Amino acid sequence: MEIVRSSPHVGAEILGVDLRALTDGEFESIREAFIDHSVIFFRDQDLTPDDHIAFAHRWGDININRFFTPVDTHPQIAEVRKEPDQAVNIGGEWHTDHSYDQIPALGSILYAREVPPVGGDTLFAGQYAAFDALSDGMKDTLLNLWADHSSRHVFGQIAADNDRFHNADAATQDSVHPVVIEHPLSGRPALYVNPDFTVRIHGWTNDESQSLLQWLYQHCTRPDFITRFSWRAGSMAMWDNRAVQHFAVNDYAGHRRLMHRITLEGTEVGPARTQPRPLPVAA
Ligand code: SIN
Repeated sequence: MEIVRSSPHVGAEILGVDLRALTDGEFESIREAFIDHSVIFFRDQDLTPDDHIAFAHRWGDININRFFTPVDTHPQIAEVRKEPDQAVNIGGEWHTDHSYDQIPALGSILYAREVPPVGGDTLFAGQYAAFDALSDGMKDTLLNLWADHSSRHVFGQIAADNDRFHNADAATQDSVHPVVIEHPLSGRPALYVNPDFTVRIHGWTNDESQSLLQWLYQHCTRPDFITRFSWRAGSMAMWDNRAVQHFAVNDYAGHRRLMHRITLEGTEVGPARTQPRPLPVAA
């Protein structure tokens, strides 16, 4: 097995493994790579839906999606589909899946079944690097803030274009998370706000929240925090929803793109530990 980094801050491609027949040792190396790189990529995997589910079960329990169309025979797998005549894709905005749940998903495992001849890439932005790049003053401010997240305006009755999704009535999830979380696996601080599901800074008005959130969204997705994955049929990406945001590029009008997604249950995300910073000593 070979692990090749995709960019300085985020992502690694794992070569030389067959996900249908992993040894425990190989799985442990993949798990370590996932913790170290936040999103891992595999090529040329030949997986049935059952193989996909078996790989997911090695990580934990599967979260059955309430809003996406499931694969007919396998409700554990959600379809991420765009037909040639559809204009809007799923995930065409920076986001992290399930931040609207009080216990957000650990990660998602996306497997490419049918891809356009060119385009349809996915971008991933590393949120450890986004936090690390902030000034000490901004870090201190953000470490004391929480943010409200919701599913209502994306999947619910009030969503502008919710016809791609199901169960609008079930979109009642609201959650509150620290703006900077301590990652449950790595212990590292990560920014945890995203333009799709975050609605305001907790305890602030919508108006008050907007300028800080808009600045953070722009910062979180700076080009130097990003890696870009170009899919082929049989490629798989597994990302950590607590450490990256992702964006599905919608640049393949007239072509079908069909992906199978399994989302994994996570654990509660707590605030990054704040350490009182000593006042600078005057020179
Ligand atoms: C998603 O946002 O989960 C879908 C990502 C993709 O289709 O590339």
